[in-house]
Amino acid sequence: MGTGLILGIESSCDETAAAVVRSGGEVLSNVVASQMEMHALYGGVVPELASREHLRNIVPVVREALRAADVSADDLDAIAVTAGPGLAGALLVGISFAKAYAFGLEKPLIAVNHLEGHIHAVLMERHGASAGGLLALVVSGGHTHLYLADESDGSWRYRNVGRTVDDAAGEAYDKVAKLLGLGYPGGPWIDRLSAHGNANAVPFRFISINRGTEEDPSFDFSFSGIKTAVLRYVDTHGMKAAIDARRAALARIEQPSLKDVLALCDAETLDLIASFQHAVVGNLVRQTLAAAAHFGATGIVVSGGVAANRALRARFAEVAAERGLSVAFPGASLSTDNAAMIAAAAWPKLRHGEFAGADLNATPQLRL
Ligand code: KG4
Ligand code: ZN
Repeated sequence: MGTGLILGIESSCDETAAAVVRSGGEVLSNVVASQMEMHALYGGVVPELASREHLRNIVPVVREALRAADVSADDLDAIAVTAGPGLAGALLVGISFAKAYAFGLEKPLIAVNHLEGHIHAVLMERHGASAGGLLALVVSGGHTHLYLADESDGSWRYRNVGRTVDDAAGEAYDKVAKLLGLGYPGGPWIDRLSAHGNANAVPFRFISINRGTEEDPSFDFSFSGIKTAVLRYVDTHGMKAAIDARRAALARIEQPSLKDVLALCDAETLDLIASFQHAVVGNLVRQTLAAAAHFGATGIVVSGGVAANRALRARFAEVAAERGLSVAFPGASLSTDNAAMIAAAAWPKLRHGEFAGADLNATPQLRL
């Protein structure tokens, strides 16, 4: 297995990514071709377009990852690829490429679950992480999942102890941003605009959901209610015309700056945005801490696109310090979709000889 040099490939959604990582932690290259601008024109990811872009990007992105790492394909010890969850057509581009590449080079192929990848985006930077007692919150545009993560003999096992019953947190951010006439993806806009509003102006409420049993509890999330509550607020406060005007004005600006967007938001809108974020962040932190307390976890790792949120990071850091818990987030370049996290998650599998066969297929609903 050489020095554990793994080429990771990721194409589950709207980023075509390739990376070379040594021994699960040393990132030699991390290349991401984002399609965000293209999908922004349509207000969300268009699956057909995503597949076509992945096809166009996969070869140059892999070539660039090898070049930037200064390694030749022959030096690689394995090829790792995201097998799911994600868009079927998008996943297939990465998988087909990885299979052919591994076969041609006579190297092992390793299948990685995208969610395990997100968790390893944090673990790979946390050398000597304490084994056991680790709770992972994966919070992105497609997922809001809690896992207990355990390492034994260098192998990781995960137990799902909570998930969203409807929308993912990132999806709620994107939908609320859209209904307020802001651009896509909405998470980063709401994050930045929230600093300019009063987070206590609108008291949004969450109810705790626990679908499990006493022996087998499940700390679940629901984000469709708050989306409806924001919609109702907009209707009852006569904000519709201002929203349409904002949407039209923003459509005329090529790459709006924060200043541009702020100029188009009145105080009531900023208060609504800040209150929405405050409620979502509070709910994510509360449920995660309840699960940590229940399972006796002493370490929390937060990953996925929404982990970039500044209020979420600040709130977690604050309460973790109060309770003597450790909380870790991925660095900026590893929080949104990337292939370094896929190569990192593949390293324990390489050591254990957990390889995929030529029959590897995309699994859009793959579970962890
Ligand atoms: O992990 P990711 O890149 O792709 C998925 O696997 O979904 O996550 C993308 C999601 C989007 O919903 C986006 O709005 C959200 O992450 N996001 C944020 C922030 N940055 C990205 N949400 C809140 N605050 C942010 N700063
Ligand atoms: Zn993701």
